[in-house]
Amino acid sequence: MPQKQRILLIVGCIIFLAALGLWTTSNGVLAELSQCSQINTGGNIAITGGCIVKTLPEQIGTGHGDEYTPGSAVYLIRRDPARAIRRGRQIFQRKFSAAEGQGPRVNFTSTGDITENRALGAGLTDSCAACHGRPRGAAGFGGDVATFPESRDAPHLFGLGLQEMLADEMTADLRAIRQQAVDDAVASGTPVTHPLIAKGIHFGAITAHPDGSVDTSAVDGVNADLRIRPFFAHGATVSMREFAIGAFKAEMGLEAWDPILCAVTDTNNPVAMTSPSGFVYDPAQDTYERPPVCDAITDGDNDGVVNEIDPAIIDYMEFYLLNYFRPGVYEQTVHTTKGLQLMTRIGCTSCHTPSLTINQDRRVADVNTVYDPVNGIYNDLFATASTRFWVFDDGQPYPQLLPEGQPFVVENFFSDLKRHDLGPMFHERDWDGSLITEHVTEPLWGVGTTAPYGHDGRSINLDAVIRRHGGEAEAVRLAYERLSWSQQEAIIRFLQTLVIFPPDDTASNLNPGDPNGDPQDPIARGTINLGALFQISEEGGE
Ligand code: HEC
Ligand code: HEC
Repeated sequence: MPQKQRILLIVGCIIFLAALGLWTTSNGVLAELSQCSQINTGGNIAITGGCIVKTLPEQIGTGHGDEYTPGSAVYLIRRDPARAIRRGRQIFQRKFSAAEGQGPRVNFTSTGDITENRALGAGLTDSCAACHGRPRGAAGFGGDVATFPESRDAPHLFGLGLQEMLADEMTADLRAIRQQAVDDAVASGTPVTHPLIAKGIHFGAITAHPDGSVDTSAVDGVNADLRIRPFFAHGATVSMREFAIGAFKAEMGLEAWDPILCAVTDTNNPVAMTSPSGFVYDPAQDTYERPPVCDAITDGDNDGVVNEIDPAIIDYMEFYLLNYFRPGVYEQTVHTTKGLQLMTRIGCTSCHTPSLTINQDRRVADVNTVYDPVNGIYNDLFATASTRFWVFDDGQPYPQLLPEGQPFVVENFFSDLKRHDLGPMFHERDWDGSLITEHVTEPLWGVGTTAPYGHDGRSINLDAVIRRHGGEAEAVRLAYERLSWSQQEAIIRFLQTLVIFPPDDTASNLNPGDPNGDPQDPIARGTINLGALFQISEEGGE
């Protein structure tokens, strides 16, 4: 039987077993997590779930590796991607201990100049989920840090990989237009101006001169280098891998050395690299953040722990975030449909673009989560996972399951990934006395479950954050204020249908649960059980 059929058959059997309530998993159900053997010597927990099976060395396995080294990150990403995603999730949820290198915050006295190092205002936590932990078990929202004087709110990370891919493809589009303008100017011997449009979003215009130089003064909403940086509220970071390495250091005092970003940012000989998740780093085009340590032996903190974060940990984290599910869509009614129509009519969608299309999706799976009061058990949501890989049988014990690289329409996104000036109510003081006047359009997916709002979390509800819009959105806000109360309410109601959810309490085709089962039984309540897709059983529980 061809591999793909075999795999689909396995998945089918598991779904069938799950439907019969016969499927149990050693992975159980999971939330912000300690390692099982840390909270019970010997790891003898009487019930499933609630802790991580693997120790940190077991999660690291044989390290970064390659597709021929069993137990390595690249091997699992290629040959057991569902497990690699779960491993990343367990690392995201993991409570790191001091013995594993957690802390200090910047240095032993946590003292310094915040204008030189914002991490002095970040947290010192033991887990990514400490700040991105709501709803429980998700890569959600919840934390707040003082890296800026007015604070920054931790956004949810649902759909993050889609955001990275959209921004990267749009950057390539803008740069192709720049190249075309240069070619045209050189060929014609006169200055040439081209509008900068990527996936239908307008970023002003660029003018090229016959000598090959470019004038970027009319570029709008993106830096002069035309690189769209989707991460951080003011648009500062390009890739999830860089962000994860930075967060481990700034929020948890954990230093990652990374062969990929260390090579890309090498001061003497920077080289282009592709991460195991398929992000292409080209130092000839862009500069990237250098990891805190690039020598596997020395440790900049001098706190006794060397090699705190193995590259494999970063590989799994990036792959988890790349494939992380999109937010869900709750019940649509005549009222909410009217709300969306009104948002389009008054101009909200001129910045909050409802959908954008990815040309080449690097994910291996998609999860579509919708309102389904029949099959939803805990939250009236039902998630349908579908794979987006093809099977490459290279004669090894397990075939490679590689991303198809097909187009994907990112629906209910509601962002243009562009920076806008929303006026004084959104302007943000920085520690050095300067003012940050532009922020990236916040994607509205998930907005129904993530109060409070704004990059600083200073708006208490949806109506307040909409009324806070000014500057480029002044006319649109005035149009909102002119609507009747019931029209405004329709917009709010629509926004409330854009939700995020706890994966361990959301029924799915990977574990539909049993509506008549015991509510205390983690399996019966339905879960997005990635374990159902694992290929390599000898790797054991996660
Ligand atoms: C102490 C709280 C805290 C911890 C712990 C934390 N984060 Fe964050 N995270 C934030 C805040 C706040 C932001 C928003 C930053 C900003 O816009 O200035 C953020 C933003 C992000 C973003 C960018 C999202 C976006 O849309 O801009 C990513 C990715 C991310 N965090 C990943 C992680 C990972 C991975 C970890 C664990 C290694 C982690 N975070 C730990 C608070 C935290
Ligand atoms: C000129 C572009 C623009 C227009 C027009 C616009 N927005 Fe926004 N919106 C933004 C930007 C940029 C942010 C991020 C602000 C921040 O936090 O720094 C934002 C933030 C938001 C947020 C908060 C999201 C969160 O998670 O904190 C909501 C809700 C929102 N907008 C709804 C609307 C609605 C509804 C309309 C129409 C009445 C609208 N916006 C019109 C650009 C715009």
